[in-house]
Amino acid sequence: MSAPLLKVENLSVNYGHIQASRQVSIEVGEGEFVGIIGSNGAGKSSTLKAVAGVVRPAAGTITMAGKPVHGCGSHEMVRHGVALVPEGRFVFADQSVEDNLILGGYIRAERGGPAALQDDMERMYQLFPRLKERRTQLAGSLSGGEQQMLVIARGLMSRPRLLMIDEVSLGLAPKVLELLFPVLQDLNRQGLAILLVEQIATRALAVTSRAYVMENGSVTQSGPSQQLMRDPSVMEAYLGKQH
Ligand SMILES: Nc1ncnc2c1ncn2[C@@H]1O[C@H](COP(=O)(O)OP(=O)(O)O)[C@@H](O)[C@H]1O
Ligand SMILES: [Mg+2]
Repeated sequence: MSAPLLKVENLSVNYGHIQASRQVSIEVGEGEFVGIIGSNGAGKSSTLKAVAGVVRPAAGTITMAGKPVHGCGSHEMVRHGVALVPEGRFVFADQSVEDNLILGGYIRAERGGPAALQDDMERMYQLFPRLKERRTQLAGSLSGGEQQMLVIARGLMSRPRLLMIDEVSLGLAPKVLELLFPVLQDLNRQGLAILLVEQIATRALAVTSRAYVMENGSVTQSGPSQQLMRDPSVMEAYLGKQH
């Protein structure tokens, strides 16, 4: 079997005395759609941030397509094919939709010039026609759902091999999610590997093929999503903490 696209082994992230992620080991295969579920504070975001080079892990190893990449900064990780869509839908509010996309595509522009950038932007508009309609509008004037589309599209502009998305559904209406999730599923069917972090376990398990459950900084369970969805211990532990 070939090496997985992403292999994280024994990754630990600390903030001072707080151990956010402890000895986390996860893998994402080429073209796989994988989830990480777990309640608030479980260490999901810290794990993604460490993989994306946004925070420096205290311990552990990370490889992308067999290459060791731990210790790389966030810009280098983008060059290794990793894009993180962080929690919170951060957009450059006082810039247009189009300018937000251009910022996401700067690496592509370095490699392929303005024509490649234009092609990629058109691809994003095909994926998210709403962004095309609003291409000249300021990003700050978009609805929450449209801003989520924009940050995903901005992440895709770097042409990642692995797209990591943190809490895509947070605060969005079910109607908007009915637009967003099928786009992610389409992208995955076209070969993009996706690592999706969600507090809403049922939603993540419905679209991913495999998932990891995190609690208190550690991975406590993993397996096929359909299996986890039927596992009362997963659902009870999860729902227990929700209410
Ligand atoms: N920047 C930070 N500084 C200090 N503690 C943090 C910081 N970010 C997260 N934490 C703590 O680390 C733990 C894991 O957080 P996080 O990775 O955000 O979990 P999740 O994404 O699963 O909600 C929590 O206890 C949280 O309070
Ligand atoms: Mg989080």
